[in-house]
Amino acid sequence: VGPQVIDIRKLYGQTGLFTYDPGFLSTASCSSDITYIDGDKGELLYRGYPIEELAVNCDFMDISYLILNGELPDGTQKKEFDSLVMHHTMVNEQMHFFLRGFRRDAHPMAVLTGLVGALSAFYHDSTDITNAHHRHVSAIRLIAKMPTLVAMAYKYSQGQPYIYPQNNLSYTGNFLRMMFATPCEEYVVNPVVERALDRIFILHADHEQNASTSTVRLCGSSGTNPFAAIASGVACLWGPAHGGANEACLQMLEELQAKGGMAKVGEFMEQVKDKNSGVRLMGFGHRVYKNYDPRAKLMQQTCKEVLAALGLENDPLFKLAMEVERIALEDKYFVDRKLYPNVDFYSGIVQRAIGVPTALFTAIFALARTVGWIAQWNEMISDPEYKIGRPRQLYQGSVSRHVPKR
Ligand code: ACO
Repeated sequence: VGPQVIDIRKLYGQTGLFTYDPGFLSTASCSSDITYIDGDKGELLYRGYPIEELAVNCDFMDISYLILNGELPDGTQKKEFDSLVMHHTMVNEQMHFFLRGFRRDAHPMAVLTGLVGALSAFYHDSTDITNAHHRHVSAIRLIAKMPTLVAMAYKYSQGQPYIYPQNNLSYTGNFLRMMFATPCEEYVVNPVVERALDRIFILHADHEQNASTSTVRLCGSSGTNPFAAIASGVACLWGPAHGGANEACLQMLEELQAKGGMAKVGEFMEQVKDKNSGVRLMGFGHRVYKNYDPRAKLMQQTCKEVLAALGLENDPLFKLAMEVERIALEDKYFVDRKLYPNVDFYSGIVQRAIGVPTALFTAIFALARTVGWIAQWNEMISDPEYKIGRPRQLYQGSVSRHVPKR
């Protein structure tokens, strides 16, 4: 038994009444079959399957297939899907020239927003969104090309040559190679690192109507092409209250470490509780979860495993994060407001341990969320009753008046 749902269109007609709900605290903008969250229980399901089971038993390609198609793939379907995605990993060479227009110190999310939007210039079939086959091909292209684009943005920022996709590797192994290989040395994918990154991808794959997904739906509702709609999602994700929190969280922990680490945690937590300080605990709190974010639990577990496997058990930032969490779980301020770690709290520590630079954290989130964005976009476009999104407003400006003589 969930909350009571009222379809106001049925009760009051299209224009008889409208609700005022800033931040959409209690307004459903759509119905969906993809992802379910019970924020009070701390439960997350993709297509009905608990995230805890998916994270342990599947890889990111299984999850992508599931989110797109509604069912987990069998052996043959998985093989075909893997090879279809890997077939589309290359991007047009013209994209390299486009990338060269950016400053080398540009933020990767600025670059990625541009690159994803620019893909629409190469695939004219993608503008025919009424054709289910074209929508499917666009979805595969986006999932396949995101790792290539993120790795290109990284290599460009380093002044290093791009590494082309190697399609006999796994999706995640190929991404790691494009990021960290150089033309002068042989690169061997470390299975511990590959598994950890794949877990990060799984945990970020979809999260129902969050800000960036809602942005993709609203943008796509005008009938624009999917590359343009996903570019809008990338732009939204960048903000520190959303996907940018993983980068902000790691910076927060690094600053705390530089200021004295464990000895200063208590003082820092008092600062967070002081509303006048303007300091928020990044990686904490969530609009829907009023219990522990199940992704954060899995991420904390992954963090422990990866640090141990890489001989980094004494990582000071991990210890600091655990101490921050311990204090928060016992502190009235956090308990009363139901503030728990979210997915971003530990993901930065995992990414840092496997060698991903902080500035790239949110781009990796975007790479993984692309499957959720495109599945949600496709679900919307496939519904014969979908309408252009057009929120109303509560106007509080001046009443009608005349321009004075001048
Ligand atoms: N640190 C300190 N206090 C917080 C925090 C935090 N991280 N988050 C919420 N609060 C407090 C607020 O000050 C407010 O207190 P009040 O009732 O005394 O005024 C109360 O908790 C409710 O907070 P809201 O901002 O109203 O909650 P909302 O649902 O609008 O915001 C959000 C959710 C944006 C995630 C918020 O918790 C936040 O800013 N967290 C830090 C950023 C972050 O980690 N974002 C990632 C979210 S997960 C994701 O996007 C992948």
